[in-house]
Amino acid sequence: MKPSTAQKFKNPRARHGFEGRTCSIAGVGSYVPERILTNADLEKMVETTDEWILSRTGIKERRLAADDEFTSDLATHAALRAMENAGVTAGQIDLIIVATCTPDMPFPSTACLVQQKIGARQAAAFDIEAACSGFVYALEIGQQFIMSRTYDTVLVIGAEKLSTVVDWSDRNTCVLFGDGAGAAVLQHRPQAHGLLTACMGAEGDKAELLCMPGGGSRRPATLESVAARLHYLRMDGKETFKNAITAMCTAVHQALQRCEIDITQIQCVIPHQANRRIIDAVGERLGVKPEQLFVNLEKYGNTSAASVAIALDEAVRSGRIQRGDLVLLVVFGAGLTWAAAIIEW
Ligand code: ACO
Repeated sequence: MKPSTAQKFKNPRARHGFEGRTCSIAGVGSYVPERILTNADLEKMVETTDEWILSRTGIKERRLAADDEFTSDLATHAALRAMENAGVTAGQIDLIIVATCTPDMPFPSTACLVQQKIGARQAAAFDIEAACSGFVYALEIGQQFIMSRTYDTVLVIGAEKLSTVVDWSDRNTCVLFGDGAGAAVLQHRPQAHGLLTACMGAEGDKAELLCMPGGGSRRPATLESVAARLHYLRMDGKETFKNAITAMCTAVHQALQRCEIDITQIQCVIPHQANRRIIDAVGERLGVKPEQLFVNLEKYGNTSAASVAIALDEAVRSGRIQRGDLVLLVVFGAGLTWAAAIIEW
C-alpha cells in the first residue's frame, strides 16, 4: 500500500478549521441493464450514422433498462454491490442519498424505495437533484454526515433511467444518453481521507439550456403538454458543450488550489462521461495526460448522475485506482451545475 497522501500535503478541510472525523469510500458498486442499443440500432430509428455519433461523441453503444426495471431497481443492484465491496450489511446503513433526475415517481423519493428494497430499515433516506453533477454533490453531502459524527455509514447512489425522458425521434439528443447506476458506501476509516475537497457550483441563469419542460408544477401533465412533447429532455447542444468545458476547468482549478497540488499529482481523472470531445478539450486545457484519464463513455453514453459513479467502480475493480491514489472527479450537468472533487483513495 502507498503511503497516505495526507503525509504529502495538508488536508484543506483541516486548514479551514473543520477537519472532523475522517471519511473514506469504503466500497463501490455499479450496475448497467442488459439490453444494449448500438449506433447501428439507432441508424434504424433516426436519420443518423455510426460514423457521425462516434466522431461527434465517442459513444458506440448504451444500455437501456427493461420496461419493468426502474431507477430504484438499477440503484438497488448498484447499492448491493457497493455494500458487498465494503463489507457492510443493510442493518448498518444510517442514511441513503440517491442522486437522480429520473426518479421512479416525483414522490416518494427513490431513496425511500431503495431503503425498502435493500431492507435498511433504520436508515434515513432522501434524493438530491443536481442532474449529471448529482453523484459528486451527494458524496460531499454524505461525507458531511460522517465527518460531523451524525452517522457512521452512508450509502450514496447515482442512478438514472434516462431512456424514459429521451425523445427517441430527436436525433440531436437520443444518441447521447443511457441507463445505469453506481454507488459508494461512506464510512470512517482511519487510513484515508475520502473527499479532500469538493468544489461545487451552479448557474440558474442557464437553466433553459438543458431541461425537461413538462411534468413539474410549472407545466403539469396535460393532453396539450404531451402533444407538445414537453415531457422529454431538451438541450441546446452547442451552448451546453461550451459551458461544460469552461465550468469543468474552473472547478478543477479551484479544487487543485484548495489542496495545494497540481494536476500531475492526480493518479486518475474521472470526468463526466458525456462526450469524448468535451473530455478531450477539458483534459487538454488542464494538462491531463492520456494515462491519467479514465473513460468508459463508448460503452454507456451519458448516464447523468450515474456516469462518474459507474466509472469510479470500474476504475477501482480493474485496479486502475489503488489505495493512496489521488482521484479527481469532475462533473457537469443541467442547472447548470458542476463540481470537482479530489479523493484520497
Ligand atoms: N446524426 C446525424 N446528424 C446529426 C445528429 C445525429 N445524431 N445530431 C445532430 N445532427 C446534425 C445537426 O442537425 C446539424 O445539421 P445541420 O448542420 O444540417 O443543421 C449537424 O449535425 C451539426 O450539429 P451540431 O449541433 O453543430 O453538432 P455538434 O458538433 O455541436 O455536436 C452534440 C452535437 C454532440 C450534441 C454536441 O453539441 C454536444 O455533445 N453537446 C453537449 C451535450 C452534452 O454533453 N449534454 C449533456 C451534458 S449535461 C448532462 O449530462 C445532462
